[in-house]
Amino acid sequence: MSETAKIQLGDEIFEFPVITGTENEKAIDITTLRAKTGYITLDSGYKNTGATTSSITFLNGEEGILRYSGYPIEQLAEKSTFLEVAYLLIYGELPTKAQFDHWTHKITRHTLIHEDMKDFFGAFPSKAHPMGVLASNLISLSTFYPESLDPDREDSAVDLTIMRLIAKISTIAAWSYKNSVGHPVVYPHNKYNYCENFLNMMFSMPTEDYEPDPVVVRALDQLLILHADHEQNCSTSTVRIVGSSKANLYSAVAAGAAALWGPLHGGANQAVIEMLENIQRDGGGMQKWIVKAKDKDDPFRIMGFGHRVYKNFDPRATIIKKSCDDVLNKLGINDPILELAKQLEEVALSDDYFISRSLYPNVDFYSGIIYRAMGIPTQMFTVMFAMGRLPGWIAQWKEMIANKEPIGRPRQIYTGATERPYVPMAKRK
Ligand code: SDX
Repeated sequence: MSETAKIQLGDEIFEFPVITGTENEKAIDITTLRAKTGYITLDSGYKNTGATTSSITFLNGEEGILRYSGYPIEQLAEKSTFLEVAYLLIYGELPTKAQFDHWTHKITRHTLIHEDMKDFFGAFPSKAHPMGVLASNLISLSTFYPESLDPDREDSAVDLTIMRLIAKISTIAAWSYKNSVGHPVVYPHNKYNYCENFLNMMFSMPTEDYEPDPVVVRALDQLLILHADHEQNCSTSTVRIVGSSKANLYSAVAAGAAALWGPLHGGANQAVIEMLENIQRDGGGMQKWIVKAKDKDDPFRIMGFGHRVYKNFDPRATIIKKSCDDVLNKLGINDPILELAKQLEEVALSDDYFISRSLYPNVDFYSGIIYRAMGIPTQMFTVMFAMGRLPGWIAQWKEMIANKEPIGRPRQIYTGATERPYVPMAKRK
């Protein structure tokens, strides 16, 4: 006997099916609610509302569990590579050697962007935030490949678009940085792997030789794995709803980048470092900032803390915090900001305000410290998040298209003026 949910409205009782996921999550299927009852549900911020079913990523917020297609994030972060994880998310299985070699070969050879796009970077002011440059260039890619915009094409055109996006985002990201510092762009080179190529495009200069540090390469690859997907977060939900109108994949991921930019979402990694630098300038005392964070009338929040789903440690934050110590030690860097971050975490996690609200460090709390150690400027941190999240956006978009999901169009409860006659300007007071 399948489980159902009953809702009583007045004297009538309405019954709705309950669906159960493979990890025993439960949902009341209200697909027929309005047709049966005339009622809709209301759930600002979708805190209790599932938008879809998905087989890509599983989170358990109470226990701090994150798995990509069943594989624990801890194992993938330790044993896998970013391009292998990207393949897993998008195609649902870890690739065989042949599949992986084809995948990496094609991505390596699609890292060049059309020469005409080079002019776009120079057209931006040098003060342009790299996320604005990234989002603009992601949707601009659609103008260079008009033949591959149809999301429903059955042939390999969609796979080619997927490989183009993963390949070219690293070049666009690096060139947005070069534009911001007025340095000449560095072209990708096929001798490098994905992360080596990105670092070379970021830091190589015509005036001196540069070889990517293996410690930095491995740390970057792990950070990209940790950011690769996170089920129906704000930016992924944006990608899904833009894609649900059958807009092309380039525009859907550009919209995702725009959503990620916000300081409540991916922009938090930049905001964390700016917050810690502010605390450092202020003398490093923690209590003042804890008091401000708890004050309802004070807009200050501890950035990098709290999460809509995790009510326990964000497993990614635990891995990144450990990696901070490893990377900084290996690079011989002593960054006082890391100590400040650890102090702030310790003080907050001993305060009942944070404990009672299950507020723990999230993926953004420590990631910026590693990016700093790599020499990546603060304004580029959210671009790094976007590079990591791109395969997740693509995977979720692909699943939505494959499942032929309807265009996303939520309802509302109207609370404005009821009907009233038009008043000519002369008669308005
Ligand atoms: C990401 O969804 C994802 O999966 C996102 C992400 C991904 O991988 O895609 O994990 C990436 O976006 C991580 C989150 C990055 N953002 C930040 O670090 C910004 C700071 N955090 C907060 O703004 C907040 O915690 C959110 C936005 C992350 C979550 O907000 P919610 O779920 O809407 O929770 P809320 O704002 O209603 O907070 C609940 C309570 C409130 O207090 P009360 O009204 O109960 O008194 O907790 C308080 C909040 O004031 N609170 C904080 C706080 N976060 C929440 N108080 C101080 N500092 C904070 N950081």
